[in-house]
Amino acid sequence: MASSSKIIYFCDNCGYESSKWLGQCPMCHEWNTFVEQKVSKKTSSTTKKIVETNKPISINEIVNTNETRIKTGYDEFDRVLGGGIVTGSIGLLGGDPGIGKSTILLQICKTIAESLNVLYVSGEESPKQIKLRALRVGEFSDRLKVLGETNLEAIESIIDKTKPDLVIIDSIQTMFSENIDSAPGNTSQIREATNILMQIAKKLNISIIIVGHVTKGGDVAGPRILEHMVDYVLYLEGDRHASYRILRGVKNRFGSTNEIGVFEMQNIGMVEVKNPSEYMLSGKPINSPGSVVTCSMEGTRPILVEIQGLVSNSYYAAPIRTATGIDRNRVNLLMAVLEKRANIPLSKFDGYVNVAGGIKVNEPAIDLAVIMAIVSSYRNEPIDDKLFVIGEVGLSGEVRSVTKSQTRIIEGYKLGFKKAIVPKACQKQIESIMDKISDMEITYISSIKDVL
Ligand code: TYD
Ligand code: MG
Repeated sequence: MASSSKIIYFCDNCGYESSKWLGQCPMCHEWNTFVEQKVSKKTSSTTKKIVETNKPISINEIVNTNETRIKTGYDEFDRVLGGGIVTGSIGLLGGDPGIGKSTILLQICKTIAESLNVLYVSGEESPKQIKLRALRVGEFSDRLKVLGETNLEAIESIIDKTKPDLVIIDSIQTMFSENIDSAPGNTSQIREATNILMQIAKKLNISIIIVGHVTKGGDVAGPRILEHMVDYVLYLEGDRHASYRILRGVKNRFGSTNEIGVFEMQNIGMVEVKNPSEYMLSGKPINSPGSVVTCSMEGTRPILVEIQGLVSNSYYAAPIRTATGIDRNRVNLLMAVLEKRANIPLSKFDGYVNVAGGIKVNEPAIDLAVIMAIVSSYRNEPIDDKLFVIGEVGLSGEVRSVTKSQTRIIEGYKLGFKKAIVPKACQKQIESIMDKISDMEITYISSIKDVL
């Protein structure tokens, strides 16, 4: 075996590879993203003989074995994964530093190590620091082994020898491979490290969870291809100042995406929040203008959220528009609809919309709540505390149907909301469940004019 090194260039953004430097990436069209990478390739001195180990087989001959899943001991975590960690899968857990990634992973390791062998590789903290965290979380089985190491070749050899069932890599930004001539955390290192881990997972049928820090823009630091390479991507998000955390599945080869799990960070680690609606509404002000409750579907789960609106006189040529937890463009659009269709002169006012509790919602079904929150603040009239609203609002001010209207209404009813404003288009569906919500007063509307 002889060792030679060559230089390749690849796009920091999408991973496109090229033999020469390019100003603009032909794949993702970003400028100035090409980085140099020296790769030392172990090349065989004799011409490599190709061995065909895999043969094409008919699709009917493939034996379908149901994937086995490892339960994490947390329903909130399992649901996001689609029922547990699939053996032999490789996944990514992203999130801001300090949000609780290491804590939640240590907790699931605790349950899994009761019956399986787990290896927790930490490049960020020493085993002593991990022990300190473990003391808060509880008692651990000896099956959980901790390894402070950042050299991937060393990690690979340990995994090969000990063959654990689950490996945690905390974090990918600290790992390095000797094949690559750059510092840990560089795009090329991250890419190579993930590649090596992926091969380990598939070869030995070991489940691996990789931790990745998130950049300011919200992506996992490193190339986007990191997300393409793994089987599932989870994000742990939440307001650093609030104690709850949301685990969100954004990619999943073994289940549906957009499922969320809700946790609360306490002094004994992360505790599951079984009823997030109640949690999200816990701080809702009573009888206050600009506050409206709506229901957002997060995956299969309905969650009641409070939308807050505030309009105040503007002293600028272009009024201020801010949105927290909701797309700002959507807020701009809804304010324009109000101005045009309801003759409310919002262009003279600054407008702020906030989803209380810090949760992010991205669903048109909350449009009507945003509209009502803004109008309620504009008129300084509070909205009935027992009322909750759902509906998408179109450009001509029409209120359109929403998906899963029955689930949403039942969730609202369960939490004590006895009045609802619902799109007319959902009337049939709602009427079919009236026996479950018999004392609920429902108003069907087809235009925002009906509520104003
Ligand atoms: P950590 O899991 O280290 O975050 P990450 O791995 O995402 O960087 O979490 C660190 C924060 O969580 C830290 O500010 C302390 C807090 N924490 C608790 O509030 N309770 C606990 O039981 C633990 C272990 C941590
Ligand atoms: Mg950590």
